[in-house]
Amino acid sequence: MSSQEPGPPASLDDVKGWFPKVDQLLFTWFLERQDQLGETGDLVELGSYLGKSAILMGRHMRDGETFTVCDLFDSEASDDSNQEEMARSYSSLTRKAFEANYRAFHDRLPQIIQGPTSLILDHVQPETCRFVHVDASHLYEHVHGDIQAAHVMLPAGGVIVCDDYRSEHTPGVSAAVWESVTVDGLRPICITPQKLYGTWGDIGPIQNDLLNWLEKQEDVWHEIQQVAGRQLVRVKQKPANRPQKDDQVRKLKARLAKAEEQLAQAEDRLAGTRQELGSVRNSVSFKVGRKATALPRALRGKRKP
Ligand SMILES: C[S@@+](CC[C@H](N)C(=O)[O-])C[C@H]1O[C@@H](n2cnc3c(N)ncnc32)[C@H](O)[C@@H]1O
Repeated sequence: MSSQEPGPPASLDDVKGWFPKVDQLLFTWFLERQDQLGETGDLVELGSYLGKSAILMGRHMRDGETFTVCDLFDSEASDDSNQEEMARSYSSLTRKAFEANYRAFHDRLPQIIQGPTSLILDHVQPETCRFVHVDASHLYEHVHGDIQAAHVMLPAGGVIVCDDYRSEHTPGVSAAVWESVTVDGLRPICITPQKLYGTWGDIGPIQNDLLNWLEKQEDVWHEIQQVAGRQLVRVKQKPANRPQKDDQVRKLKARLAKAEEQLAQAEDRLAGTRQELGSVRNSVSFKVGRKATALPRALRGKRKP
């Protein structure tokens, strides 16, 4: 999770939350594609925390559309397990903090439902949405309900994004998401390390457009896998620290080469000095000098104390 400094955020990087760069890119790509194709509809986010993903989604809301976010914020959860989850992971969350962050980027707040996501269908009409982000509770029963609600809110071509579909600490999310795929007809379009993007519509055209776009992305890696008879695109950010590592190795090699050069020069100088010393020792004046001092030294050695 990225952390947040006190004071209003100046960029999305300043907002505390769980929204990796590769998913920021994909949200933007999916929402811009809908815009280019003239697909209209509302946006919904279940689980907004301090607004990191909501702020990005809000950029793509057009005139006449509604963006609805649903979060417990500082309210009590409806069951003990969810309350425990809230206390463990989001104890300092307040609606006020979400609103302050959102207002730092947008003039108008989204429609905010403060309460459990099980209430969402009281506020959003069936098949009125084009994009739903499911990122609230990690408990199976809740996520199962959230995905079912998304199925109701989205027409066939709409896009659902499910967070934490494969994290070690969220097996309930994995169970609910893959159950939707195998039982409820959800078709995964692509996956990132954190999110699964899917639709209950045709995945062919959207995957083709996605693959064309991915081919041109230098910072993003992808591959295609076949999963249960369907094509699935795996997308990942290329490691940003790779050039740094290469750079470090290059610098270390340069330092080593310089040290070896200095050592060779020192060895040359030492050899020269030894040679000079040898020729001094062999010189006539040195030998005469030694003889001249040898006698007084011998006498000094015999002096009585
Ligand atoms: C992982 S965070 C959302 C992260 C956010 N989308 C981001 O980009 O940083 C999960 C959010 O779901 C909310 N939440 C958990 N259980 C909920 C429930 N049953 N109904 C509504 N919101 C819930 C929590 O308050 C928390 O803000």
